Amino acid sequence: MADNYDFDVLFIGSGPGGYVGAIRAAQLGLKTACVESRETLGGTCLNVGCIPSKAMLHASEFYDAAANGMMAKMGVDVTPKLNLPVMHDQRRDAVKQLTGGIEYLFKKNKVTWIKGFASFVDAHTVKVGDATYSAKEVVIATGSSVTPLPGVDVDNDKGVVVDSTGALELAAVPKHMVVIGGGVIGLELGSVWRRLGAKVTVVEFLDQLLPGMDGDIRKEAAKVFAKQGMELKLSTKVTGVAVKGKTATLTLEPSAGGAAETLKADCVLVSIGRRPNTEGLGLENIGLETNKRGQIEIDGEFRTSVAGVRAIGDVVPGPMLAHKAEDEGIAVAEWIAGQTGIVNHDVIPGVVYTWPEMAGVGLTEEAALEKAGGDKAAIKVGKFPMLANSRAKTNHEPDGFVKVIADAQTDRVLGVWAIASVAGTMIAEAALGMEFGATSEDIAYTCHAHPTHSEAIKEAAMAVRGKPIHM
Ligand code: FAD
Ligand code: NAI
Repeated sequence: MADNYDFDVLFIGSGPGGYVGAIRAAQLGLKTACVESRETLGGTCLNVGCIPSKAMLHASEFYDAAANGMMAKMGVDVTPKLNLPVMHDQRRDAVKQLTGGIEYLFKKNKVTWIKGFASFVDAHTVKVGDATYSAKEVVIATGSSVTPLPGVDVDNDKGVVVDSTGALELAAVPKHMVVIGGGVIGLELGSVWRRLGAKVTVVEFLDQLLPGMDGDIRKEAAKVFAKQGMELKLSTKVTGVAVKGKTATLTLEPSAGGAAETLKADCVLVSIGRRPNTEGLGLENIGLETNKRGQIEIDGEFRTSVAGVRAIGDVVPGPMLAHKAEDEGIAVAEWIAGQTGIVNHDVIPGVVYTWPEMAGVGLTEEAALEKAGGDKAAIKVGKFPMLANSRAKTNHEPDGFVKVIADAQTDRVLGVWAIASVAGTMIAEAALGMEFGATSEDIAYTCHAHPTHSEAIKEAAMAVRGKPIHM
């Protein structure tokens, strides 16, 4: 036991940041605790985020393939019948198995799970219920929760105005779902219910969907979702939602101002972003302040401005992604154990798990250009359409492309973006290449198995340097 503390390290929060960090810390020989206020471990990701949303996306994709004629195209004639309770059960089962798996891993690695809500008494002591626990180092891994829309009351139990958690649990397919916010959650969960038969309207404040992604991806995304039957109202803001019984009436206005219109829906999904969880944590007791966005600022070793207190995951600046939180969890544990923990924040892939998937890693073309001071000759871009990829074509998956952005002088890959049925899997190759400082030539001369979607990455890299073969 370190210096008379109860623990060497105590993590607050058991999401992908906290649970992974706690396991790594224990593996490194540190006496470790993890406090979690939920009934189960795994945080947002396992309980109400990544895992249940992917369970619904995967299941609804089967239904859609049968309903939209995709299966018939391949000679499989079926008329699908939706069994929503079973679909929900398999989702709950996935969550149960995975959260239970973390409990098993905690036991196996001797991580102490403290149940309850933690708040700081001082930098080395937290209070959980009536008990207090001390640790030499405390890591804040409290994650994030839904950003509310002022004046709009979410009531997940009623199912009319819901957030992502409510949208995973709907007991019936809505007739008309209006999604407020055309970001990752709105498009993933909007896709689930569109596939299952809902009319879906997405209201997005900006002039394109998916802020943060490459401009070409954002433009193509709008085309793809419109083709699938989603109604997109871009450059539009929601100024109010009135609920009467089971009907919501939304008031919309052009983002730049102008005449208002109304829209009726039996389900409204509020998905306008997430904000860091720091309320009730007692940060004032240790003199730790948050920045303007409510995040906890950290240095390269995840140290906050208060000695002995570090922070990781959604509660600190950077993309709010599970794998980023996990890598930070491992790295923070390594620093605490006296090692060097590395996370390359320039190479964090992002994936939207719609159909097709949309993924990227590194700089967008816009950001690369900005970094080059607007000098178009400083970057080279190669693109290859999935329509010309033999596997995508064979699988009846014509939408999308791969785009490789490279430094014109060094040929080093700066960013890779893809829309393809399996873009989320394909992007791992680009991340690995970038981590090793790959040039577009390295990727173009790497043998890719045929026939795979990944050949499109090779051909896009060839396009950076001249011409691909199949176009
Ligand atoms: P969290 O997972 O939010 O965990 C924090 C935990 O801390 C929570 O369990 C909370 O109960 C607990 N806690 C908070 N305060 C206290 C306290 N004071 N005391 C004790 N416990 C406390 N990311 C991806 O990379 N891929 C995806 O496919 C993906 N899909 C998503 C789908 C949805 C619908 C949502 C909402 C999010 C999704 N995300 C996805 C984002 C991902 O869930 C988060 O980035 C990730 O969970 C962040 O991990 P974290 O450990 O920082 O925090
Ligand atoms: P988001 O930030 O991705 O998108 C929110 C969208 O709402 C933006 O496009 C924004 O312009 C728009 N918006 C904001 N206010 C608005 C208003 N008043 N009216 C209309 N539009 C408005 O946030 P989202 O989708 O809620 O997701 C939160 C976080 O969860 C994301 O940061 C993401 O990283 C993470 N997540 C990741 C997933 C993945 O990796 N596949 C899946 C789901 C969530």
